[in-house]
Amino acid sequence: MVSLIFGLLGVAPSIVSALTPLQSFYPPNLNDTSYITDLSLGTYGGTYQSPTREPNTTLPYGSYDYCQMPHPRVREYPLPEAVRNGSVKANIVYLEYLQRHQRRTPYNILPGGENQPYDCDDILPYLYAGPASGEGPLPVYAQTYTDITNPFVLGYVNGSCQFPQLTIGGLLDGYQHGKDIWAVYGAKLGLIPIIPEKEKVWFRSTESPLTQQSAGGVLRGVWPAWPGALPLHQQTSAVDTVNEGFSCSNRGTVLSAIESTAEWNEHLNVTANLRSELGSMFGATSSDWQDTFDHFSDNFQGRLCNGYKLPCDFSDTSKCVSMEQANEVFRAGDWEWNYYWRTNPKVQEYIQLVQGVFIGEILSHFQAIIDGKTSLVYSHIFVHDGDIGPVLGALGITQLRWPAMASNIAFEIWRTEGRESALFARVLYCGQPVETIHGTLDWLPLESLIAILKPYVPTDIVSLCNA
Ligand SMILES: *[C@@H]1O[C@H](CO)[C@@H](O)[C@H](O)[C@H]1NC(C)=O
Ligand SMILES: *[C@@H]1O[C@H](CO)[C@@H](O)[C@H](O)[C@H]1NC(C)=O
Ligand SMILES: *[C@@H]1O[C@H](CO)[C@@H](O)[C@H](O)[C@H]1NC(C)=O
Ligand SMILES: *[C@@H]1O[C@H](CO)[C@@H](O)[C@H](O)[C@H]1NC(C)=O
Ligand SMILES: *[C@@H]1O[C@H](CO)[C@@H](O)[C@H](O)[C@H]1NC(C)=O
Repeated sequence: MVSLIFGLLGVAPSIVSALTPLQSFYPPNLNDTSYITDLSLGTYGGTYQSPTREPNTTLPYGSYDYCQMPHPRVREYPLPEAVRNGSVKANIVYLEYLQRHQRRTPYNILPGGENQPYDCDDILPYLYAGPASGEGPLPVYAQTYTDITNPFVLGYVNGSCQFPQLTIGGLLDGYQHGKDIWAVYGAKLGLIPIIPEKEKVWFRSTESPLTQQSAGGVLRGVWPAWPGALPLHQQTSAVDTVNEGFSCSNRGTVLSAIESTAEWNEHLNVTANLRSELGSMFGATSSDWQDTFDHFSDNFQGRLCNGYKLPCDFSDTSKCVSMEQANEVFRAGDWEWNYYWRTNPKVQEYIQLVQGVFIGEILSHFQAIIDGKTSLVYSHIFVHDGDIGPVLGALGITQLRWPAMASNIAFEIWRTEGRESALFARVLYCGQPVETIHGTLDWLPLESLIAILKPYVPTDIVSLCNA
């Protein structure tokens, strides 16, 4: 049995434990369902556990860390190889930075409720509006509480959190994330301005408080002393080009087709026991919980990433989810993400439908640099896993594990010096040049990067959505 598994995957457990941080992002057999079922793979060199406030420092910098993905950090920041070895002289002229929000409580509460309280008293979600000029409001914040006379609490969850909401660990990691961005792109490379001048910097989020609150944390890290407020751009949520804002019927049609293929069914087939064990433990037998691994993954990640334990059966507290079961859920989630954004037979159309308009917006930022029509040097966009995944898919990432909390893509644009001055690009995923089917995107003409992404921008999204 063991040798059969080795034969299928070509990866022995001892090799898994010896993975480099970068290798933990790229399991070579992620597209095979044996990646899901091979218990010896564990977390494939990553972690899904963190104390409530601090990062988990067990793994070396750069490893896949679901709770707080690595980001560019000055100590490890690699200059493009061509610049480092002196074969070209170049300066960075633009940074387009995308990130998933920081860590949070789960979206999905188990059908029978949660067997432990969630505590969010150590983070204050501010919510107030002020006039553009005149007297400012009194700053109020959300204080979630549980009223024990509310009979529905028993079958839901006790405590002081909303689901989802940013947690203190996520906010604090956001500060660090911003400090590290400043250290690389401000202090070291001199790109980000010392104060957030409106002509040079631009920020965007989705309508979700998770992304807005992440922005407040990260940008405080970038500009610790800035006394004012900053605009965080958003499109109207009903037509937003991120977070599946605009409605698009063909998107659902294509998704159903993707989730009906033989490969998809095989991944359900090999996980039938796991799904049935978890389903009966929690009454999670509806299609919402059974048809994909989204909900179980989310529920377990939300707990483990914020210092809590895996859930137990309400009626029999001796029956709890094991770490082995959770790891299999996480591997199945990784398989699904790779399938959605890399290997399904309709992947190009699916990326166009979900993220194509947004990718077009990014390309228009690049075009403005080429045309010399912008003074911007730094754009930072706070989005969701469902936005990061398709962008990585469009880049042709060789393997795509679930883009975890605070996962980030840095599109850097460099201009070479001298008479033959030209624009080059590189793309970092969580601090390292991304590995793709087009090679490592460490240094390529900006036009080549545009050519990679362009096929994912639909020429007519309205017709495509109605197709
Ligand atoms: C997985 O990817 C490899 C290399 O890209 C390919 O050779 C193989 O056929 C794929 N396997 C499946 C099951 O799709
Ligand atoms: C840190 O991660 C390691 C590896 O996944 C795990 O064994 C450990 O329990 C984690 N520590 C905490 C405090 O969550
Ligand atoms: C420097 O790095 C670039 C990009 O990897 C490579 O093409 C070039 O040959 C290298 N030059 C030297 C002198 O090592
Ligand atoms: C909720 O949790 C608090 C603190 O742990 C506890 O005192 C209270 O009894 C719990 N209420 C319910 C309804 O479980
Ligand atoms: C799983 O595989 C078996 C045997 O090949 C097949 O009979 C069954 O229909 C499959 N189930 C699913 C859910 O694909």
